[in-house]
Amino acid sequence: MAMWLEPDPSQLRDPHGYSLKWHFYPPDVLPLWVADMDFPIAEPIAEAVRERLGQPVGYPPASGDRALLERIVEHQAGHGLLGLNPENLLLTSSVVPGIYASVLALTSPGDEVITQVPVYPPFLNALEEHHRLARFSPLEPTPQGWAIDFDHLERLVTPRTRLLLLCNPQNPTGRVFRREELEALAEFALRHRLWVMSDELWADLVFEGRHIPIASLDREIAMRTVTLSGPCKTYNTAGLGGGVAISHNRQLLSALARVLKGLGGHPNVLAMAAWRAALERAQGWLEEVRSYLRGNRDYLTAFLHSRLPQVGYLPPEGTYLAWLDFRALLGEGAHAAMLERARLGLSDGRAFGGYAGWLRLNFATGRPLLKEALERMERLVAALR
Ligand SMILES: Cc1ncc(COP(=O)(O)O)c(C=O)c1O
Repeated sequence: MAMWLEPDPSQLRDPHGYSLKWHFYPPDVLPLWVADMDFPIAEPIAEAVRERLGQPVGYPPASGDRALLERIVEHQAGHGLLGLNPENLLLTSSVVPGIYASVLALTSPGDEVITQVPVYPPFLNALEEHHRLARFSPLEPTPQGWAIDFDHLERLVTPRTRLLLLCNPQNPTGRVFRREELEALAEFALRHRLWVMSDELWADLVFEGRHIPIASLDREIAMRTVTLSGPCKTYNTAGLGGGVAISHNRQLLSALARVLKGLGGHPNVLAMAAWRAALERAQGWLEEVRSYLRGNRDYLTAFLHSRLPQVGYLPPEGTYLAWLDFRALLGEGAHAAMLERARLGLSDGRAFGGYAGWLRLNFATGRPLLKEALERMERLVAALR
């Protein structure tokens, strides 16, 4: 096993406090919350950033580094999203601004927006903070995994519904939607003339099946969709930033650009260098990390099934997130109990659409730390008896 994937916690909690994850809680708390990895970045990325600093760092072209845009087009083509060229891309400072810009550009205050829940909290924040009305389509746990309730989805639509927000692969459930599910969602969106924002930031961290961009299904859905992507989940570069909004419909991108004008800043030269190096030269690193994460996912699954069967859990098909139902054991105070009594810092399910008693665990860490975290949980549960 590569040692670099099992870092020493004393090094993760660096003395400068650079890591939000490792400094948010007191030192005896094991942090498995905010979504970055405890692994060092790929050496080709670090090298590219250092090299880039040897070049002028004045204003870059406003549309971004052309070579990076071409790599992103190729990368999307690898996922089956074809027919793009650099003019179909709008670089953003990271992915969250693309979520907010989509909401602002494609809807008006008072409009209704459908989002699956549980979901990455900024989806909900963007709606609430800008007075759009969130309509929740809950993913339902079934023996086959988290499922979309299409009848419920249909009942959510009113004449004020404008936009469907998708997260695929899905944060926090780890679902990777299958072609037939995406086809049904696309048919639904087209029939009701909805715009679609599809956040596909996790597309390269898939363990089962394969990621399918919804905009790749056909021309009609492509023309109604903005796809969001970025480097940070796959390559662990969140602090560098970088994101992209992609659409075959350039009018949609222009609408997003208008919303971001004057606020979005200009492309960051270090972020662009890192992203390009990631796409060109970090595939070996990615394969190792993905295989380690799959091992962590399998370890977690086996542990929960054998030693904590009371915890509700469906193994994720992608991402490095596990969505855990502690309601039966810890009730709605699960997050506080886990923090205070097990000294584990997890994400509170409340922020994901009101899921009190649910916790999101980030397993992008060394296996010894994951094991330690699960044993802390097990001890807490044993003490409840
Ligand atoms: C679905 C999703 N979108 C966006 C982000 C954040 O992206 P960024 O840091 O590039 O703004 C995350 C981070 O976890 C995420 O899970």
